[in-house]
Amino acid sequence: MSFEFVVPVVVDPDGVDGSAGPRPMNIGSEKQRQQEVARTAGMPITEFKGTSNPYIDYESIDLLLSLQHPRSEGYDEMCFIIMGQAKELLFKSAYFELFNARLRIIDDDLPNALVLLDRTKKIIKLIVGFWDVLSTISTDGFNQFRDYLDVASGQQSFMYRHLEFIMGNKSEKMCAVHKNVPHVYPAIKDNLESPSIYDEVIRLLARRGCEIAPECLNRDWSETYKPHRSVEEAWLEVYNDPGPGNDLYMLGESLVETASTMTEYRSRHFVTVERILGFKPGTGGSSGVAWLRNVVDHRFFPELWSIRSEL
Ligand code: HEM
Repeated sequence: MSFEFVVPVVVDPDGVDGSAGPRPMNIGSEKQRQQEVARTAGMPITEFKGTSNPYIDYESIDLLLSLQHPRSEGYDEMCFIIMGQAKELLFKSAYFELFNARLRIIDDDLPNALVLLDRTKKIIKLIVGFWDVLSTISTDGFNQFRDYLDVASGQQSFMYRHLEFIMGNKSEKMCAVHKNVPHVYPAIKDNLESPSIYDEVIRLLARRGCEIAPECLNRDWSETYKPHRSVEEAWLEVYNDPGPGNDLYMLGESLVETASTMTEYRSRHFVTVERILGFKPGTGGSSGVAWLRNVVDHRFFPELWSIRSEL
């Protein structure tokens, strides 16, 4: 594609408060809303004091919308940047849910863990849909801005890595990618060294009476997860009663659904990359499609997949 285009200005960056912290705001109440609606006779408020409004301040919207900076003359770069940033936000949203689902599991609170996992699946499903938009970028369109990425690559996304780690795909190497970033590294290292949600589910199976090998219950959590027969046997026992009355079965199925959706995400990324790049190397130093193929083949919660042949 080659035509003249315009990036419409929506925010004057000079007016934006660039600090990352929450902006001061009043806290409303039902009483105050009743008074307000009486004052406005039911019409929305259209006048505000100062140089901002509460909607902008609540989520720092002007700051958020000032962070899209295409660097090339390529038309598709704006789409690539916005989809990339929106995906990072949704990775964070999924991570928040999984982090708290893990706490619910530690507390033996399965009903709430299942609610949070249900939301997680829906968030990941939403991220899968982003590939519909990103796959509209043609090879030519991508080539117009690719050099501006230098060696930047999604493989350096710490938010995506948080998601992979909490789901159990640990890698010291992928954690070390961030070791020079002092405001990011401690959290990702902590995640690497903590039990994943699956590790906590395995501990829950043990608390519920399944015979799990001790090396699955306490180990160096930063090491790559190795499937274990005792975990397979525990799941086989759980899957003997496959119904909504069996909360462990419901948890197992919820985890498989989450893993499935992540595989869908990785597969769509893989196919989009092959469509855009062919077999050219990635910007991040990898062979590209060949490297990503291994990612697609990985399965989270492996015993929940392997037992299928025995059910
Ligand atoms: C649409 C054009 C895209 C292309 C052509 C592309 C290409 C690639 C390639 C070749 C890799 C392998 C690593 C390397 O760079 O050498 C990779 C990895 C990765 N990309 Fe993309 N990518 C695209 C979009 C995105 C977007 C929008 C995101 C999300 C913000 C993303 C997230 C990732 C992640 C997280 C990895 C690492 C995968 C893993 O470690 O499991 N990619 N990408």
